[in-house]
Amino acid sequence: MSLHPSPRRPRRLRASPVLRKLVRETTLHREDLIMPMFVSHVDGQNAEIASMPGIFQLGLDELQHEADAILAAGVSQVILFGLPPQKDPVGSDTWSDTGILQRAIRRLKQAYGDELFVISDVCFCEYTDHGHCGVVAADGRLLNDPTLVNLQKQAVSHADAGADMVAPSGMIDGMVGAMREGLDGAGHSDTPIMSYAVKYASSFYGPFRDAVDSAPAFGDRRTYQMDPANRREALVEASLDVEQGADLLMVKPALAYLDVVREVRDRFDLPVAAYNVSGEYAMVKAAAAKGWIDGEAVALELLTSMKRAGADLILSYFARDLGSRLPSLG
Ligand code: PBG
Repeated sequence: MSLHPSPRRPRRLRASPVLRKLVRETTLHREDLIMPMFVSHVDGQNAEIASMPGIFQLGLDELQHEADAILAAGVSQVILFGLPPQKDPVGSDTWSDTGILQRAIRRLKQAYGDELFVISDVCFCEYTDHGHCGVVAADGRLLNDPTLVNLQKQAVSHADAGADMVAPSGMIDGMVGAMREGLDGAGHSDTPIMSYAVKYASSFYGPFRDAVDSAPAFGDRRTYQMDPANRREALVEASLDVEQGADLLMVKPALAYLDVVREVRDRFDLPVAAYNVSGEYAMVKAAAAKGWIDGEAVALELLTSMKRAGADLILSYFARDLGSRLPSLG
């Protein structure tokens, strides 16, 4: 029997490490990663989140120690989530000048100045006693436009405290426009908005809701977050946010939505972020703890897949631990 194999041999380009690097299409950099942090009103708190090993609820001093570790890993950008002293029906801690996030932002900006880029998550679910992302009517419905008024106050208050960028995550119609108007009117026209433009009603947020105790007291978030089955609707959401002045677009979660990341990347010309969410982190950590997978290798593979799918930036709980393993843009 004679063989006539094709002269095309893709394996030629895989023969050595140097050659493989020469033809590598996607490279993760430490500058691509944004590290989430949970700041608690409790002084001295340093509590590891059970479902998120290596991630902590931190008091203000501890937050600064953690920021030192993040910077030491070569990661200079963080996004903050707050645990307020008290929750109420509207989440008024979010626009208080002495609110937990305002205190954290001020603290970090005073300590690090331009060395650390501080993004604030703009939402209500961590701050309301019912755990929904805004103002809720007596019958349990989330009220869109009254929530916009509060979102405006929250965004301005974060920017007043020194936030470098604000990131609305509530999936409230008109949120980007309302915030842009509020920020511009308050002298913050240079503060960019990274919109959680395409956010699905996902079961991957479970560990995060443990971390900030924000599981809805009744119902779920399906009247505002998107149906995981929908792709075209993601493009509607993204284009509305572009019209309203979003500076960056986010898709969340990342792993189960890489097709959506690709689609948003291809259709829009703004930077695209993907959120490698808490449940994605927890799955890797849990399997690695059992010795079933190599956690670090799997994490790098996942983050690479997100970048390959088109994400320019990735919010990830792995950022602190993997940052020093990644090359820098210099
Ligand atoms: C809302 C918000 C959530 C996450 C980020 N911002 C939770 C939610 O929508 O229920 C989830 C992040 C994660 O799971 O890592 N403020």
